[in-house]
Amino acid sequence: MKLSVSILNSEDKNKMIKLLSKIDISYIHMDVMDGKFVSQKSIPYNEFNNLSKVSNKKLDVHLMVEDPLSYIQKIRYNQNIEYITIHVEIDKDIKSILKKIKDYGFKSGLSIKPNTDLNIIKDYLDYIDLLLIMTVEPGLGGQTFIPKSESRLKEAKKIVKDYNILLEVDGGINDKTINKVSAADIFVAGSYITKDNDPIKKINSLIKK
Ligand code: DX5
Ligand code: ZN
Repeated sequence: MKLSVSILNSEDKNKMIKLLSKIDISYIHMDVMDGKFVSQKSIPYNEFNNLSKVSNKKLDVHLMVEDPLSYIQKIRYNQNIEYITIHVEIDKDIKSILKKIKDYGFKSGLSIKPNTDLNIIKDYLDYIDLLLIMTVEPGLGGQTFIPKSESRLKEAKKIVKDYNILLEVDGGINDKTINKVSAADIFVAGSYITKDNDPIKKINSLIKK
Protein backbone atom coordinates (compact mmCIF):
# COMPACT_ATOMS: atom_id res chain seq x y z
CA MET A 1 0.00 0.00 0.00
CA LYS A 2 1.06 3.56 -0.62
CA LEU A 3 0.52 6.19 2.02
CA SER A 4 0.27 9.88 1.16
CA VAL A 5 0.28 12.15 4.20
CA SER A 6 -1.74 15.37 4.01
CA ILE A 7 -0.10 18.23 5.90
CA LEU A 8 -3.19 20.48 5.60
CA ASN A 9 -4.13 20.24 9.28
CA SER A 10 -0.61 20.17 10.61
CA GLU A 11 0.21 23.05 12.96
CA ASP A 12 3.86 23.37 11.99
CA LYS A 13 3.91 22.33 8.34
CA ASN A 14 7.64 22.79 7.82
CA LYS A 15 8.45 20.68 10.85
CA MET A 16 6.02 18.00 9.66
CA ILE A 17 7.58 18.02 6.18
CA LYS A 18 11.01 17.43 7.72
CA LEU A 19 9.70 14.56 9.80
CA LEU A 20 7.86 12.96 6.87
CA SER A 21 10.94 13.26 4.69
CA LYS A 22 12.83 10.86 6.90
CA ILE A 23 10.28 8.09 7.05
CA ASP A 24 8.93 5.43 4.79
CA ILE A 25 5.82 6.98 3.27
CA SER A 26 5.20 7.20 -0.47
CA TYR A 27 4.04 10.80 -0.83
CA ILE A 28 3.33 14.08 0.88
CA HIS A 29 -0.18 15.16 -0.12
CA MET A 30 -0.43 18.90 -0.77
CA ASP A 31 -3.96 20.31 -0.66
CA VAL A 32 -4.49 23.54 -2.55
CA MET A 33 -7.75 25.47 -2.06
CA ASP A 34 -8.76 28.67 -3.80
CA GLY A 35 -11.71 29.86 -1.67
CA LYS A 36 -13.96 29.37 -4.75
CA PHE A 37 -14.15 25.68 -5.64
CA VAL A 38 -14.16 25.14 -1.88
CA SER A 39 -14.84 27.86 0.64
CA GLN A 40 -11.47 27.54 2.39
CA LYS A 41 -8.36 29.11 1.02
CA SER A 42 -4.96 27.48 1.35
CA ILE A 43 -2.31 28.22 -1.24
CA PRO A 44 0.86 26.69 0.12
CA TYR A 45 3.60 28.26 -2.05
CA ASN A 46 6.03 28.52 0.86
CA GLU A 47 5.67 24.89 1.77
CA PHE A 48 6.24 23.94 -1.87
CA ASN A 49 9.40 26.03 -2.07
CA ASN A 50 10.80 24.97 1.28
CA LEU A 51 9.96 21.37 0.68
CA SER A 52 12.28 20.94 -2.25
CA LYS A 53 15.12 22.37 -0.16
CA VAL A 54 14.73 19.90 2.68
CA SER A 55 13.17 16.82 1.14
CA ASN A 56 13.34 14.42 -1.79
CA LYS A 57 9.91 13.07 -0.92
CA LYS A 58 7.53 12.90 -3.86
CA LEU A 59 4.47 15.12 -3.83
CA ASP A 60 0.91 14.29 -4.63
CA VAL A 61 -0.79 17.64 -5.33
CA HIS A 62 -4.58 17.90 -4.92
CA LEU A 63 -5.92 21.04 -6.58
CA MET A 64 -9.32 22.02 -5.19
CA VAL A 65 -9.41 25.08 -7.42
CA GLU A 66 -11.61 26.46 -10.21
CA ASP A 67 -8.65 27.41 -12.36
CA PRO A 68 -5.95 24.73 -12.07
CA LEU A 69 -3.78 25.98 -14.95
CA SER A 70 -2.87 29.26 -13.29
CA TYR A 71 -1.71 27.35 -10.24
CA ILE A 72 0.06 24.63 -12.24
CA GLN A 73 2.12 27.30 -14.04
CA LYS A 74 3.44 28.42 -10.68
CA ILE A 75 4.49 25.00 -9.41
CA ARG A 76 5.58 23.35 -12.66
CA TYR A 77 9.30 23.59 -11.92
CA ASN A 78 9.02 21.85 -8.56
CA GLN A 79 11.02 18.67 -9.00
CA ASN A 80 9.33 16.82 -6.15
CA ILE A 81 5.91 16.66 -7.78
CA GLU A 82 4.81 13.29 -9.15
CA TYR A 83 1.02 13.65 -9.39
CA ILE A 84 -1.14 16.69 -10.06
CA THR A 85 -4.84 16.03 -9.51
CA ILE A 86 -7.68 18.31 -10.57
CA HIS A 87 -11.42 18.04 -9.91
CA VAL A 88 -13.85 16.69 -12.50
CA GLU A 89 -16.53 19.13 -11.27
CA ILE A 90 -14.79 22.31 -12.48
CA ASP A 91 -16.21 24.23 -15.42
CA LYS A 92 -13.13 24.05 -17.65
CA ASP A 93 -11.75 22.02 -20.55
CA ILE A 94 -10.65 19.12 -18.37
CA LYS A 95 -9.01 17.07 -21.13
CA SER A 96 -6.74 19.91 -22.15
CA ILE A 97 -5.69 20.54 -18.55
CA LEU A 98 -4.93 16.83 -18.07
CA LYS A 99 -2.88 16.88 -21.27
CA LYS A 100 -0.95 19.90 -20.07
CA ILE A 101 -0.15 18.17 -16.77
CA LYS A 102 1.34 15.29 -18.78
CA ASP A 103 3.19 17.66 -21.14
CA TYR A 104 4.88 19.19 -18.12
CA GLY A 105 6.12 15.72 -17.17
CA PHE A 106 3.78 14.94 -14.27
CA LYS A 107 1.32 12.12 -13.77
CA SER A 108 -2.27 13.31 -14.06
CA GLY A 109 -5.05 12.71 -11.60
CA LEU A 110 -8.76 13.38 -11.56
CA SER A 111 -10.69 13.74 -8.33
CA ILE A 112 -14.40 13.23 -7.77
CA LYS A 113 -16.54 14.51 -4.89
CA PRO A 114 -18.71 12.08 -2.88
CA ASN A 115 -21.99 13.02 -4.62
CA THR A 116 -20.85 13.32 -8.23
CA ASP A 117 -21.98 10.58 -10.64
CA LEU A 118 -19.00 8.25 -11.12
CA ASN A 119 -19.91 7.60 -14.76
CA ILE A 120 -18.62 11.07 -15.61
CA ILE A 121 -15.10 9.68 -15.20
CA LYS A 122 -15.54 7.41 -18.24
CA ASP A 123 -14.80 10.32 -20.61
CA TYR A 124 -11.33 10.80 -19.15
CA LEU A 125 -9.93 7.30 -18.70
CA ASP A 126 -7.40 7.73 -21.50
CA TYR A 127 -6.07 10.91 -19.92
CA ILE A 128 -5.40 9.93 -16.30
CA ASP A 129 -2.94 7.94 -14.19
CA LEU A 130 -4.88 8.37 -10.97
CA LEU A 131 -8.50 8.55 -9.86
CA LEU A 132 -8.96 10.24 -6.48
CA ILE A 133 -12.19 9.24 -4.80
CA MET A 134 -13.06 11.80 -2.13
CA THR A 135 -14.28 10.05 1.00
CA VAL A 136 -15.37 13.37 2.56
CA GLU A 137 -16.59 16.62 0.99
CA PRO A 138 -13.44 18.47 -0.08
CA GLY A 139 -12.48 21.62 1.77
CA LEU A 140 -11.52 20.66 5.29
CA GLY A 141 -9.28 18.23 7.09
CA GLY A 142 -10.51 16.30 10.10
CA GLN A 143 -13.95 15.30 8.78
CA THR A 144 -15.67 11.95 9.22
CA PHE A 145 -15.30 9.30 6.52
CA ILE A 146 -18.50 8.92 4.45
CA PRO A 147 -19.60 5.23 4.70
CA LYS A 148 -20.96 4.95 1.14
CA SER A 149 -17.38 5.53 -0.09
CA GLU A 150 -16.88 1.80 0.35
CA SER A 151 -19.32 0.94 -2.43
CA ARG A 152 -18.20 3.88 -4.59
CA LEU A 153 -14.65 2.58 -4.53
CA LYS A 154 -15.84 -0.82 -5.73
CA GLU A 155 -17.81 0.83 -8.51
CA ALA A 156 -14.76 2.92 -9.46
CA LYS A 157 -12.60 -0.18 -9.54
CA LYS A 158 -14.91 -1.68 -12.17
CA ILE A 159 -14.81 1.48 -14.26
CA VAL A 160 -10.99 1.60 -14.39
CA LYS A 161 -10.37 -2.15 -14.66
CA ASP A 162 -9.06 -2.13 -18.23
CA TYR A 163 -6.83 0.88 -17.66
CA ASN A 164 -3.57 1.53 -15.91
CA ILE A 165 -5.09 3.89 -13.35
CA LEU A 166 -4.38 3.93 -9.62
CA LEU A 167 -7.20 4.55 -7.16
CA GLU A 168 -6.62 6.96 -4.29
CA VAL A 169 -8.90 7.72 -1.35
CA ASP A 170 -8.83 10.99 0.62
CA GLY A 171 -10.66 12.13 3.73
CA GLY A 172 -11.32 10.72 7.18
CA ILE A 173 -8.85 7.86 6.79
CA ASN A 174 -7.73 6.27 10.07
CA ASP A 175 -6.86 2.78 11.34
CA LYS A 176 -10.55 1.76 11.22
CA THR A 177 -11.84 3.38 8.02
CA ILE A 178 -8.82 2.25 6.00
CA ASN A 179 -10.24 -1.29 6.17
CA LYS A 180 -13.37 -0.15 4.32
CA VAL A 181 -11.36 1.12 1.37
CA SER A 182 -8.62 -1.50 1.27
CA ALA A 183 -9.17 -1.90 -2.49
CA ALA A 184 -7.49 1.49 -3.06
CA ASP A 185 -3.84 1.83 -4.13
CA ILE A 186 -2.97 5.12 -2.41
CA PHE A 187 -4.36 6.24 0.94
CA VAL A 188 -4.31 9.90 1.95
CA ALA A 189 -4.33 10.47 5.69
CA GLY A 190 -4.05 13.84 7.40
CA SER A 191 -5.37 14.62 10.86
CA TYR A 192 -5.12 11.04 12.07
CA ILE A 193 -1.35 11.38 11.69
CA THR A 194 -0.50 15.05 11.96
CA LYS A 195 -2.73 15.89 14.95
CA ASP A 196 -1.13 13.22 17.11
CA ASN A 197 1.86 13.64 19.41
CA ASP A 198 3.41 10.58 17.83
CA PRO A 199 2.84 10.78 14.05
CA ILE A 200 5.25 7.92 13.33
CA LYS A 201 3.27 5.55 15.55
CA LYS A 202 0.09 6.51 13.67
CA ILE A 203 1.77 6.00 10.31
CA ASN A 204 2.90 2.54 11.38
CA SER A 205 -0.62 1.66 12.48
CA LEU A 206 -1.81 2.35 8.91
CA ILE A 207 1.11 0.77 7.08
CA LYS A 208 0.68 -2.50 8.99
CA LYS A 209 -2.86 -2.88 7.67
C1 DX5 B 1 -9.92 17.54 2.25
C2 DX5 B 1 -8.53 17.30 1.78
C3 DX5 B 1 -7.86 16.17 2.43
C4 DX5 B 1 -7.70 16.32 3.91
C5 DX5 B 1 -7.46 14.99 4.50
O1 DX5 B 1 -10.52 18.48 1.47
O2 DX5 B 1 -8.51 17.06 0.39
O3 DX5 B 1 -6.62 15.86 1.81
O4 DX5 B 1 -6.65 17.18 4.24
O5 DX5 B 1 -7.39 15.16 5.86
P1 DX5 B 1 -8.06 14.18 6.92
O6 DX5 B 1 -7.28 12.91 6.84
O7 DX5 B 1 -7.89 14.94 8.17
O8 DX5 B 1 -9.48 13.98 6.51
ZN1 ZN C 1 -6.67 16.17 -0.45
